[in-house]
Amino acid sequence: MVSKRIEASVIDAGRHPVVLGADALRALDRDLKEAEASALFILGDENTLRHCLPELLAHSPRLREAETIGVPAGEASKSLAVCADIWQHLTARAADREALLINLGGGVVTDLGGFIAGTFKRGIRCIHVPTTLMGMVDAAIGGKTGIDLGGVKNMVGVFHDPLAVHVHVPFLKSLGKRELLNGVAEMIKHGLVRDAVHYEALREAPLHDLEALAPLVEHSASIKAGVVSEDPREAGPRKLLNFGHTIGHGMEAFSWEGGQRALLHGEAVAMGMICEAWLSWRQNLLDRDSNDRIAAHLLSLFKPFVLQGDEHHRIIELMRNDKKNAGGQFRFTLLTSIGSAQVDVPTTAAQAQEALDYYRLLVRG
Ligand SMILES: NC(=O)c1ccc[n+]([C@@H]2O[C@H](COP(=O)([O-])OP(=O)(O)OC[C@H]3O[C@@H](n4cnc5c(N)ncnc54)[C@H](O)[C@@H]3O)[C@@H](O)[C@H]2O)c1
Ligand SMILES: [Zn+2]
Repeated sequence: MVSKRIEASVIDAGRHPVVLGADALRALDRDLKEAEASALFILGDENTLRHCLPELLAHSPRLREAETIGVPAGEASKSLAVCADIWQHLTARAADREALLINLGGGVVTDLGGFIAGTFKRGIRCIHVPTTLMGMVDAAIGGKTGIDLGGVKNMVGVFHDPLAVHVHVPFLKSLGKRELLNGVAEMIKHGLVRDAVHYEALREAPLHDLEALAPLVEHSASIKAGVVSEDPREAGPRKLLNFGHTIGHGMEAFSWEGGQRALLHGEAVAMGMICEAWLSWRQNLLDRDSNDRIAAHLLSLFKPFVLQGDEHHRIIELMRNDKKNAGGQFRFTLLTSIGSAQVDVPTTAAQAQEALDYYRLLVRG
């Protein structure tokens, strides 16, 4: 029998490949043959097992023999208790070091499953199949894994590279609009720090049209892969990806303290990018027109988060708790133009406060 040629492209993310294209899941099936695993397990959450597993099995028949492990959807599954359950489950099934874990889900499942794979019996192989936009363009790529501890995100983790990441954009059809936009924020960031053409394409793209979005998703995944391949263990260049994240993390943590709604990571990063583009202008790195374009674009996509002004101290305090900002002064990744950025720009707390004030006045209109 002549089998149809597999249409998938492979890009290098340093220590692991990212497989893209219409046949990314058929390519997975082919790769499973080569992996010669002693046993196959699929980890997913209640949503990904319902919406994505049937399609995965349709494209990758070898996975029909896999055993499925389900966890509740949501960040709470990135816990030591869930890990212990899964480690015990794998032990009860006599999984050995040649077992292979397929992580089918968003960043929660790939962070958790990557951590399980990195630690069980000192490390077994895993493959990530991201199902959220955040997963496809960010979380699944780069080998960072981890779980939360004592309310602190990603407190315990290891670097553990998957054998590969297989990106199948049609999985996004069941994803809600808010979750989709959450990933769009990271795509916009990729354009802003690395690729002006990508940024302009994202401005024009009909975000609800998956066919139109697919090449942009793949391009964003390749930008993340490219940055990671220059810096697999986060020694420096990966800091480029921190644009929007210093103030963004402060905003995200602040939003969990109540008052208004809890922000999704990408929503907080969108706010952070508005503030940090302004800081880039304030530090004479970025021209004013570019700043204004970026702010107007992000505000058109993301619902404003109203600040009163007296919370700024708390947000700055939360930014200080972020492990990136150890040692007093803030070091921001700031834009030098649309499409390029500079890392480690020293910035004072007073300047960060001014940036928050800029955002506050902007959304007040
Ligand atoms: N390791 C890294 O480099 C890295 C980078 C960024 C984020 N992260 C981590 O990723 C996590 C966030 O990931 P996320 O935003 O993908 O969240 P998530 O994994 O919680 O997914 C969001 C929601 O969408 C549901 N879902 C997933 N795929 C779906 C689909 N195709 N259709 C319908 N529903 C679907 C999930 O069940 C969940 O309810 C955080 O824990 C964060 O720390 C890690
Ligand atoms: Zn992010």
